[in-house]
Amino acid sequence: MAKVFQSNHPLIQHKLALLRDTTTEPKRFRELIRELAVLLACEATTDLELNEVTLTTPMGVAQGKILKRKVALVPILRAGLGMVDGIWEMIPSAEVWHIGIYRDHDTLEPVEYYTNRPVDPHVQLCLILDPMLATGGSAIATADILKRWGAQRIKFAGVIAAPEGVEALSKAHPDVDIHLAALDERLNEIGYIVPGLGDAGDRQFGTG
Ligand code: PRP
Ligand code: URA
Repeated sequence: MAKVFQSNHPLIQHKLALLRDTTTEPKRFRELIRELAVLLACEATTDLELNEVTLTTPMGVAQGKILKRKVALVPILRAGLGMVDGIWEMIPSAEVWHIGIYRDHDTLEPVEYYTNRPVDPHVQLCLILDPMLATGGSAIATADILKRWGAQRIKFAGVIAAPEGVEALSKAHPDVDIHLAALDERLNEIGYIVPGLGDAGDRQFGTG
C-alpha cells in the first residue's frame, strides 16, 4: 500500500492557510505554491541515494556525499508548473518532464494532451508535482505514463488532497508514496476539494 505523508511542519501549515484564503492574489498565490513545493520536496527526498566522494576544501581533504543519480520533476500541466522552479533551484541537476493532462469538466476523466518523453527514464526518482489530488485521475494517468516509459521509482507531491484521490491513487499505484500539506474532507458534487482552495490553475495564472 502507498505510504501517505501529511506534513505537520509549521511553515507548511502557515503557508497553506495563506494559500487557501480567497483574498490571496495570484502573485502571492504563486509565491506560496513555490515555497510549499520546496518544503514538500525536502520531505519527499529524504531517502535519495548518495555516492561517497573525496574532495578538497581550502583546508585539506574531506569526505562528502553527492546525489548518485538524477531526479526528474514531473509537473502535471498547468497547475503543477508552479511547483517546479523552487525545487529545481534546490536540485539543479534535475530533469523536468512535462505532462499535459486536464480533467474533462463533465466526466472528470483525465485527458492527456501533451507529453515529452525523456531520452533516459532511468533516474533515481520521478517526483510528480500537482497542487491538487481530487479524484486522483490525473495523478494515476501520470504514473501510468511514467511506468510505460520505464520509470523505476515514483512519488507524488501535492498540496491538498481529497480522501477519494488518495484512495484511488494508492489503489492504482501502491508503490507511489504520496506527500501532502493537507488531506481535506471530501470532494463536492462537481469534483472540487472541500474546503480546498478552489481552482489551483486559475488562481495561479489569474484565469478564474
Ligand atoms: C487540476 C489539478 C489536477 C487535477 C486534479 O487540473 O491541477 O491536475 O485538476 O483533479 P483529479 O485528481 O480529479 O484528476 P485541471 O484539470 O483543472 O487542469 P489545469 O491545471 O490545466 O487547470
Ligand atoms: N482541481 C483544482 O484545481 N481544485 C480542486 O479542488 C479539484 C481539482
